[in-house]
Amino acid sequence: MKSAKIIGLGKYLPAKRLTNFDLEKMVNTTDEWIRTRSGIKERRIAAYGEAASHLAYKASKIAIKRAGIKAEDLDLIIVATVTPDSTFPSTACYLQSHLKAKNATCFDISAACAGFVYGLINAWHFIVSGMHKNILVVGSEVISTLTDWKDRSTCVLFGDGAGAAVLTATKSGGFLSSHTGSDGSQSDILFVPGGGSRKPISKEVVDKRLHFIRMKGNELFRTAVRTMVVTAKAALKKAKIKTKDIDLVVPHQANKRIIDAVAKRLKLPMNKIFLNLSRYGNMSSASTAVALCEAWEKKRIKKGDIVLLDAFGAGLVWGSCVIKWI
Ligand code: UT7
Repeated sequence: MKSAKIIGLGKYLPAKRLTNFDLEKMVNTTDEWIRTRSGIKERRIAAYGEAASHLAYKASKIAIKRAGIKAEDLDLIIVATVTPDSTFPSTACYLQSHLKAKNATCFDISAACAGFVYGLINAWHFIVSGMHKNILVVGSEVISTLTDWKDRSTCVLFGDGAGAAVLTATKSGGFLSSHTGSDGSQSDILFVPGGGSRKPISKEVVDKRLHFIRMKGNELFRTAVRTMVVTAKAALKKAKIKTKDIDLVVPHQANKRIIDAVAKRLKLPMNKIFLNLSRYGNMSSASTAVALCEAWEKKRIKKGDIVLLDAFGAGLVWGSCVIKWI
């Protein structure tokens, strides 16, 4: 056993569509502004009470079926989320219960938009070490619950969804390399100030709307471009893969202009970049998970392809991995 490979992918998007035109009626914005500044046209919104574990369950059922295994065959479940069902227990434990995956160990990862990529990298290493055999990694978010629907600078950007992958061991191909990094000194660029142990939920927190996302969009934009390029180049170097040999990049879907700038700096044509943010917006950890699943469903990934996952998010955190698809 040399590496890990992905043997099943699944996704789930809540039914409710919220278009830019709907948002025009909610805040002082326009479809034109949102489209030209971000590339987003619409996003999905979970129903009240439809939690991260429920979205994760629907995506995971598909991934497990496509992997050709049973839920009982899973020995580890990792859920990447910043919108857990509740503070504790983990969303992975709730998901285990929905799936009846009674033989799995379960935990969550908090790495915001890079969470799914961090989850995959963890799973790969658990498999290589021989500690676990069949691992389910999920990115699932109900970001609409952290969204300030009165703040036009953030509410137009996010959406809800879930994507799942099943990993197992392989003797050839699969995960070739990864690179990750973090900078906690920039945590206030994108964060939720209230509702945690620093500022527990209170009337004051709610009145000041501190339980919602706060973001310095401009600063984040620049750092996102820089770190997504750095982490992609580092992972490619480790895998000894040249940029021209990449078949598809699946980037975090925060902003079309960020992705354009990253592609330009990596000297990659846009036909090698998978995009779906116009339909879903930024779904944090679910973005790369759903995009990877859709790329595979649309046959943009085939056997032998070199795929680069590249993500960036609150923390700040960033990470990428190179996979030879088998
Ligand atoms: O997943 C984690 C990573 N997330 C990101 O990486 C997000 C990174 N940042 C971005 O994507 C972009 O910075 C935004 C899309 C958030 C904003 O785009 P921008 O080109 O940086 O716009 P801006 O923040 O500089 O705002 C330009 C103007 C401002 O008006 P003034 O001050 O120039 O008069 C804003 O008040 O646009 C205004 N504005 C809006 N106008 C209409 C901000 N939001 C809106 C809005 N509709 N929704």
